[in-house]
Amino acid sequence: MGERPYTLLSCSMSIDGYLDSATVKRLPLSNDADFDRVDAVRATCDAIMVGAATVRNDNPRLLVRAQRRRADRLARGQRASPIKVTVTGHGRLDACANFFTMGESEKVVYCASPEVEQVRDRLGAVATVVDGGEPVGMGRISEDLYERGVRRLMVEGGGTVHTQFLTADLVDELHLVVAPFFVGDSRARRFVGDGRFPWNPRRRATLAEVRQIGDVVLLRYALSERFDRR
Ligand SMILES: NC(=O)c1ccc[n+]([C@@H]2O[C@H](COP(=O)([O-])OP(=O)(O)OC[C@H]3O[C@@H](n4cnc5c(N)ncnc54)[C@H](OP(=O)(O)O)[C@@H]3O)[C@@H](O)[C@H]2O)c1
Repeated sequence: MGERPYTLLSCSMSIDGYLDSATVKRLPLSNDADFDRVDAVRATCDAIMVGAATVRNDNPRLLVRAQRRRADRLARGQRASPIKVTVTGHGRLDACANFFTMGESEKVVYCASPEVEQVRDRLGAVATVVDGGEPVGMGRISEDLYERGVRRLMVEGGGTVHTQFLTADLVDELHLVVAPFFVGDSRARRFVGDGRFPWNPRRRATLAEVRQIGDVVLLRYALSERFDRR
């Protein structure tokens, strides 16, 4: 395998492990202080990745929000916000989504080979559309991002993308925030789906930090030898 970026997977979930409710309305699982912490982490990364369903459902901007952090990035010769990355099989993404329209940074869409041409026709003006193969593998995406200069990647969901990164053992660090309530509806998305994860009862992950942030808790896990304690 080629080189890949240092990869940090970030997620907030309910006590019962859900990423969202089952309704169309987005469920905030964090608090202001934690959103600010996530903003600080984003500001240290070269790229942020989410799955296409998150782009469609949440319409996230995926920008560094704090002006001082944007200014610091610019002073370091970086764009104000990291590159935005998504992955899609069908390519049903709206060119008017915040993912594409907000911010100056590059947008990269990895698409399954059969749909690349039609997705390029539709999104080519607002994003770099890359043939991700068939099926699209997260390892291939990681290597391609490394070749594009990405050295620090933040993966922000949803569950389908988290599952693939984790089961492929591509994650160096996990930030798991637990919100103080239950969702209690199995129609909602969980943090991860089924799969063979490298961490199991015989191979336990390393808990690197526990931090209370108001009414939520951040659990920080080291998932590889490359774990960077900063
Ligand atoms: N709490 C949090 O921290 C957090 C963070 C992010 C998201 N969320 C929530 O998570 C939910 C979405 O999660 P999700 O698991 O349904 O979706 P997701 O991981 O955001 O996206 C899944 C989609 O990404 C594309 N995709 C993923 N892997 C692919 C592959 N190997 N090849 C080709 N395409 C691939 C497919 O897009 P196409 O369908 O276009 O083919 C797939 O339907 C939302 O409700 C959102 O609110 C929560």
